[in-house]
Amino acid sequence: MNGSDITKESIYLHRRKFIAAAVSLLGTSSAFNKVLAANTLDEQLTSLHDITHYNNYYEFSTNKEAIAILAQDLAITPWEITIGGEVEKPLVIDVSQLLNDFQSKRFVYPLRCVEGWSMVIPWQGFQLQQLLEKVKPTANAKYVKFNSLFRPSEMIGQRRNVLEWPYVEGLRLDEAMHPLTILATGLYDKPLPKQNGAPLRLVVPWKYGFKSIKAITSIELTAEMPTTSWMKSSPSEYGFYANVNPTVAHPRWSQRREVRIGELKKRKTKMFNGFENQVADLYKGMDLEANF
Ligand code: MTE
Repeated sequence: MNGSDITKESIYLHRRKFIAAAVSLLGTSSAFNKVLAANTLDEQLTSLHDITHYNNYYEFSTNKEAIAILAQDLAITPWEITIGGEVEKPLVIDVSQLLNDFQSKRFVYPLRCVEGWSMVIPWQGFQLQQLLEKVKPTANAKYVKFNSLFRPSEMIGQRRNVLEWPYVEGLRLDEAMHPLTILATGLYDKPLPKQNGAPLRLVVPWKYGFKSIKAITSIELTAEMPTTSWMKSSPSEYGFYANVNPTVAHPRWSQRREVRIGELKKRKTKMFNGFENQVADLYKGMDLEANF
């Protein structure tokens, strides 16, 4: 990602104040409630317009404002997802069926891009944990690898080698099973817009935005750590973990502060993007600077 991409600050006259209730807590387990209650954000949501017109999606373009237009050509039905690798019950399922199988809930999360900007997004989706439990990971499963769609006929950015295609991301299995990690199917109470990764996109709120892979077509459980697209493209700049961490600078810029889209003054970046209480235990004893 290019440092000069960092936010063009824009002022929105018609801001509405929201108290962002994190989720509807109805019908959820108490452990789940605890995590989500802790995650209730008393913050203004980023406008729907900004969320859907300031995007990173290199399959279409490296121009953030162009993606809202270019992504509309993508056909998203039918859309099959394959879940396999180190699992007892591999699965091939259409996204429409997934939406029937898993009740979607509201998750309000800040998205912090490694480039230094952030947004607060009201997602709908379900916990990745639910899907992984259904396929039953084997004892060998240690990591989860995600692949995005490769379809250069509709994704015109894939005609250039900006990255190696398809876009690949990965998580450690315990990160993938964490109750904060979701597969998003919508935002602002609408189906997920194409520019935001329709029909299915990962959201890992304590990690930099590039981990939140869009347009997922397959999920593979593996014994070895997968090499992600950004690790291949720029290994000294983008690591596997990519946890939001204000004390570990990107080689080309500091990560201490961020611009919340819609605001003028920079704010301080929080450790693990504000989710330290919920996720710090995952990294106990780990050198976070070496495992960036
Ligand atoms: N997923 C795919 N398939 N391709 C991408 O280029 N960009 C990532 C992530 N997921 C990207 C992707 C980056 S760098 C960020 S910051 C977020 O998507 C941006 O998500 P948004 O456009 O919904 O804000």
